[in-house]
Amino acid sequence: MRPSVAPFPAARLRRLRRSAALRDLAQENRLDAADLIWPVFLREGTDVAEPIPSMPGVARLSIDRAVRAAAEAADLGIPAICLFPYTGAELRTEDCAEAWNPDNLTNRAIRAIKAECPGIAVMTDIALDPYNINGHDGFVVDGEIVNDTTVEALTRMALAQAEAGADILGPSDMMDGRIGAIRTRLEQAGHRDVAILSYAAKYASAFYGPFRDAVGASGRLVGDKKTYQMNPGNSDEALRLVERDLSEGADMVMIKPGMAYLDICRRVKDSFGVPTCAYQVSGEYAMLRGAADRGWLDGERVMMESLLAFKRAGCDAILTYFAPEAARLLKEN
Ligand code: PBG
Repeated sequence: MRPSVAPFPAARLRRLRRSAALRDLAQENRLDAADLIWPVFLREGTDVAEPIPSMPGVARLSIDRAVRAAAEAADLGIPAICLFPYTGAELRTEDCAEAWNPDNLTNRAIRAIKAECPGIAVMTDIALDPYNINGHDGFVVDGEIVNDTTVEALTRMALAQAEAGADILGPSDMMDGRIGAIRTRLEQAGHRDVAILSYAAKYASAFYGPFRDAVGASGRLVGDKKTYQMNPGNSDEALRLVERDLSEGADMVMIKPGMAYLDICRRVKDSFGVPTCAYQVSGEYAMLRGAADRGWLDGERVMMESLLAFKRAGCDAILTYFAPEAARLLKEN
């Protein structure tokens, strides 16, 4: 369908841009706090918020502080938070066993948050990188990231998170067959209603740099993730991945990173019409925040404009480190 335009002067498209009232009336897409998922970094300790240098304004939170963040999110109308653990050297092993420890940092945080703020949806990350000695999302054997034994480990990790009370599981590892394997394991264990938000179209991106600092993976990663994450030159492949993950039982799908991949968001939404999320990743946050802190950009305006762009591209939800700040601004206005 093409928008119909009469010849000038019958049509003057500026008529609807004349005043704030008319612009509001004609606005096609809007951002709401209910569209946001807030990624939160965890660390051990009590009452600590440890700043992350490459992500100004973001800190690793102890569990008690994360519970307070969840309460704040609920207050601001943010429906979900997503947990990422910082793990030091002592918990990183070749077998990644900490990943399915029922009492690991993430699983303890899930329980604490669900006990204090049952209304907020808790999302997790499923991948071995926080627990792996070499920073990879899967097991490394003879220099190769092996698929099938990694998938088996991921299902154990998923089950432990579901048992801790997670509402949404987020497999971010890009192994083949993990959605089906996790879904089957959840059904067998009676966790019928745990949702899976698949990181379906996840690109091998340099925009993840600050995140790897935040979770303690930066100095450790050996090589790159190009044998499992997507080639940034590809678009049709994203549709194959989304279709495959949906067919295996994903409830929602994600495109990641966000701003440089809005064309993929639009194609996915148009092709499948399923709940579609984008992740405005750490590097996107860092570049906007870094420029704003130097006075080179208007921080609030670029934050809101970038988030609205995800809605325009067809996304239903956005994972963003700006979530509390954007929600506060939406509440005030
Ligand atoms: C790892 C994971 C990554 C992110 C989320 N989960 C990093 C990676 O794949 O190396 C990145 C998030 C961000 O950059 O904000 N499984």
